[in-house]
This record gives sequence, structure tokens and C-alpha cells, in this order.
Amino acid sequence: MKALILVGGVGSRLRPITHTSAKQLVPVANRTVLSYVLDSIKEAGISEVGIVVGATAAEIQASVGDGAEFGLDVTYIQQDAPRGLADAVLVSRDFLGDDDFVMYLGDNYVVDGIVDFVADFRRDKPAAQVMLARVADPRRFGVAELDENGRVTAVVEKPQDPRSDLAIVGVYAFSSAVHEAVAGIRPSWRNELEITDALQWLADHGHEVGSTVIDRYWKDVASVTDVLEMNRHLLESLETRIDGEVDEASELVGRVVVEAGAKISGSRIVGPAVIGPDTVVQDSYLGPFTSIEGNCRVAHSEIQYSIVLRGASIEGVARVEDSVIGRETEVNAAPRTSTAHRLVLGDHSRVQVGG
Ligand code: TTP
Repeated sequence: MKALILVGGVGSRLRPITHTSAKQLVPVANRTVLSYVLDSIKEAGISEVGIVVGATAAEIQASVGDGAEFGLDVTYIQQDAPRGLADAVLVSRDFLGDDDFVMYLGDNYVVDGIVDFVADFRRDKPAAQVMLARVADPRRFGVAELDENGRVTAVVEKPQDPRSDLAIVGVYAFSSAVHEAVAGIRPSWRNELEITDALQWLADHGHEVGSTVIDRYWKDVASVTDVLEMNRHLLESLETRIDGEVDEASELVGRVVVEAGAKISGSRIVGPAVIGPDTVVQDSYLGPFTSIEGNCRVAHSEIQYSIVLRGASIEGVARVEDSVIGRETEVNAAPRTSTAHRLVLGDHSRVQVGG
């Protein structure tokens, strides 16, 4: 069995962070979203992985390389434009051959992985298997309707009047029957080859489309709010580890990771929080659910429920919360700053915050 990870696409809903980098590479609890996907695939016992890349191919390749770091053997497959999830299958035909494969959207995260899902597929041997989760508002998702045996009978993209609350999570498994399906469908109104249409094609042509309904946390990191929530979720299970320096005037409360080379002085850190390698935190307060990447500088500032990317500098800012601060960003206080600020700053931004 192989795996296909999709990281083409545009990531328009995560701008400006994705102006300068792929959304699958946004760090969450100081690891990229994509690295959690790769871990899950490895854990499911799959080692041959195709990554479908688009405009951000170079940085994805720089981050994942040949996959050896993850115990995987990675092949890159170029998609010339984001023509849809089913198009990604089409362009991967040579890599996939006639093998079964898991297709995992590279901006999705499923807690506790996909081992049970892959086991269901291997046991039942359907033409396709979809991962489903119950959601409060199915109108925002691709929704599946099931028969009494849990087989998918219909798939509807963002239904106005949903007949089910089972949303399609971004993990699928396919047999080689999918190739006939993706060749048999036409682009949708948004001019994409939709994987939902391929699933419907399979069901309509007498193929079995199975389902695994999960009741654990999953997220697709489409927006800044999603990224911050995933960060919160991952930090919940953090275990304390102090490899950097913490001076006597500092206090760490709860679960905090301080990576090697980081220096904490005169500061209070209330976990869960993670401080990346070679980052300096001086005379500051870091509150719960904060991830600071490496080579940052935080001085005379307060930050909580936020992600700060590599090389950013935040100085003299009374309070940053619900924020994602891009790489190499500088945030300084103008005089008399007093209120909380909510910031979404692209990489290389320079901001002065007034009172
Ligand atoms: P989407 O979230 O559907 O699309 P997007 O990444 O362009 O995001 P936005 O809506 O914010 O502009 O994509 C889901 C995943 O699939 C994501 O990891 C990108 C990937 N993808 C491809 O690899 N090829 C494609 O043709 C499309 C549409 C998406």
C-alpha cells in the first residue's frame, strides 16, 4: 500500500502567512502540520509516499527531503495548477500504479492517526474508504450519506439542506478502481475535478465505498483560528522538558518545553508552552498555549495563545494574544501602549503598535 499526500493548492484562507510559505509548513507546537501527517502514515505501516506539490514545491522539498528523517521514501509529483483533489490522483497515476493507497490532505490533522482507518480498509477491501466525523454544521463540509451497513450511498459537497451530519475528513483510501472514476468525471462549477464526484461515481457504478466514523479530534488548518486551535490541542499533551537555560529570577508553571540554546531570564511562563532553540525570553510573561519557534527574541512583553515563527522579535508589547506572528517579524511598542492587540502578521512584517 502507498500513500499520496496533497500539498498543492493555494492556501488563500491563511494569508498573509501563506504569502511566503506553504500552509502545510506552518509550525504547530513547533512542528509543521505536514510532519504530523508523515508521522501518521509511517505509524500506519506505509513507507512509499508520493507528495503532490504545486507552487510551493521548493519549500516542501526543502522541509521533507527524501523522507528519510520520517522513515519514509518520498517521491514528488508536480501538479501544474490546483485543478482539484481528483486531478491530484490523475497526475499521480504512474507513481500509484495499480496499488491501493491512502490519500491524505496535507493540511489535515487527525489525532491518534489513521491506523484504525487503514485496518478497516484492509479488512473490508472496498473500492474506496472515507473517514467521517460528526459535525454541528454539515453545510460547511463534504457530507456522506450511509446505508444501514455503513456504506456510502451519496456524497454531497456543502449541502444547503444536509441529510446527514457526517463530514468527510481529509483522509481517504482507494483501490485501483478510483482511476476509472477520476477519468470518468468532469470538472465542477469551480472548474476542479472533485474527489467527491469520483466517490459518487464509484457508488453509482456498483463499487463499494466504505466508511470509518471517528469520534476524536481532527482539524483542517484552513484559517488562523484553526491553526491556533490545533496548537492548543497539541500543547495539551506536552511533557515538560528543559534543555535550555532558565535563570533564578524566572518561574515556569505547568508543562513547559525549553529547547537547547534557549535563554529565559526574569520571566514567568505559564504552560503549556514551548520555547524553540536559541530563543531569548527576557523580562516577559508567556501564557498558556503559546509556541515560540527558534531564534526569536521576546523582551518586556506578554504573549499568550499565540504562535511566533522563527526569527521574530517582539519587544515592549504589553499583550499579544490569539496571534500568529510570521518569520523574521519585528513588533515594537510605540509609547503608552496599554490595550490587547490581535495580530496576524505575514513573514518579514514590521509593525509598531500604538496605545
Ligand atoms: P483546499 O483546502 O481545498 O484548497 P487550498 O489549499 O487551495 O486552500 P484555500 O481554500 O485556503 O485556498 O486543499 C486541501 C489540500 O489539498 C491542501 O493541502 C492543498 C491540496 N490540494 C492539492 O494538492 N491540489 C489541488 O488541486 C487542491 C485543490 C488542493
